Amino acid sequence: MTYHIPVLVLAASVAATAAWANEEPDPAAAEEAVTMETDKLVAGRRAGFWMSAGLFGSMNGVIKSGGEVKGLAFAARTLNGWATTMPGLFPEGSVNDRSNALPAVWDDREGFLATAKLYQERTAKLAELAAAGDQEGFATQWTVVRQTCSTCHDTYRKKRD
Ligand code: HEC
Repeated sequence: MTYHIPVLVLAASVAATAAWANEEPDPAAAEEAVTMETDKLVAGRRAGFWMSAGLFGSMNGVIKSGGEVKGLAFAARTLNGWATTMPGLFPEGSVNDRSNALPAVWDDREGFLATAKLYQERTAKLAELAAAGDQEGFATQWTVVRQTCSTCHDTYRKKRD
C-alpha cells in the first residue's frame, strides 16, 4: 500500500530556491505530493522519533552538568521543527508490524493533533528560553516538554516493556 503525503521539506526547499532566485514560487510544484511505501514511511518516522529522543536526552545532560543552555538553541529549534512536521507523517492507516502507533492516532485524530500542537508550542518556548540563555527557565520547560512526550505516548503509542 502506498500513501500520498505532502512533503513539507520539499515545499520549503522549493520556496527557498525560488526566494533565492528572486522568483515567485510555483504553487503547483509546492503542492506536489510524493508517493511513499508504508514500510519506508514508518521506518523514517521512527528514525525521526529516535533522533528527537537523542537530541532531547542530550539536553538533559547539559542541564544536569550545569552547562550553558544558550548553546542548545539550535538543537531546541530543530526539535521544534520535528514537532511541527511530525503529525504529517501519520497519514490514515500508516501502520505495519514495526509501528508502535495505536489506532487512537487515527480514531481520535483531534486529540492526537491537539497534543502534537502542544508539543510544537512547548518546544518553541524551549527554543526561545535557550536563545535567551535562561538556565532555570530552560530546565523547567524541558520537564514540561517531557510531560508532553508522556501524555501523547500514554494514549497514542503502544506500551513498552
Ligand atoms: C503527539 C504525540 C507524540 C509526542 C508529543 C511524542 N511522541 Fe514519541 N511517539 C509517538 C508515537 C505515535 C510513536 C510510535 C510511532 C510508530 O512506531 O509508528 C512514538 C514513538 C517514539 C519513539 C520510538 C520508540 C517506540 O517505542 O516506538 C521514541 C524514542 C519517542 N517516541 C520519543 C519521544 C520523545 C522523547 C518525545 C518528546 C520529546 C516524544 N516522543 C513526543 C507519539 C508522540
